[in-house]
Amino acid sequence: MQDIGIFYGSSTGNTESVAKKIQEEFGADIASIIDVADASVADLEKFDNLILGTSTWGIGDLQDDFEGFLSEISNANMDGKKVALFGLGDQYSYSDSFVDGMGELFKVLEEKNCELIGETSTDGYEYDASGAEKDDKFVGLAIDIDNQDDQTEERVADWVAELKNQFN
Ligand SMILES: Cc1cc2nc3c(=O)[nH]c(=O)nc-3n(C[C@H](O)[C@H](O)[C@H](O)COP(=O)(O)O)c2cc1C
Repeated sequence: MQDIGIFYGSSTGNTESVAKKIQEEFGADIASIIDVADASVADLEKFDNLILGTSTWGIGDLQDDFEGFLSEISNANMDGKKVALFGLGDQYSYSDSFVDGMGELFKVLEEKNCELIGETSTDGYEYDASGAEKDDKFVGLAIDIDNQDDQTEERVADWVAELKNQFN
């Protein structure tokens, strides 16, 4: 497997902590974590395998730093890259916009010439609506540290095991 770049945007540290767990599952020798607040087009283009993670703020908005990073994604050459998404949210307090930020990222990446991988089942979550659903699945990994942190380890481990079979 080629190197993996894990890019995250995090306001209170939750998405950052999940990025670190994902890195641990792959191994720090192969996976690097990068805060999008400090990242550029060149950082993105270094990796053929990308994982992008954002939390959701406001009502269904991308995390602030990730909002600022969208122009870098738009300008990056993503041809042939495999990209997996993860999103942090709170399914009980924001039941109509659960992990919508991940859905916003998906919309931007759908326009790029990359392959999106890592969709997951919505089973085990309780919410009314999510902009990160497509064909009854999440477009990436949904993590809810606020309400279901006891499931975070297992969700991350299962997802990374799937990605190991799919990355370049
Ligand atoms: C003011 C506020 C607005 C939020 N809006 C949403 C939302 O619309 N949808 C959602 O799923 N989670 C929402 N959340 C929950 C956060 O996404 C969640 O707590 C996340 O773990 C924060 O991750 P971070 O520390 O990496 O930014 C909101 C939280 C706050 C405090």
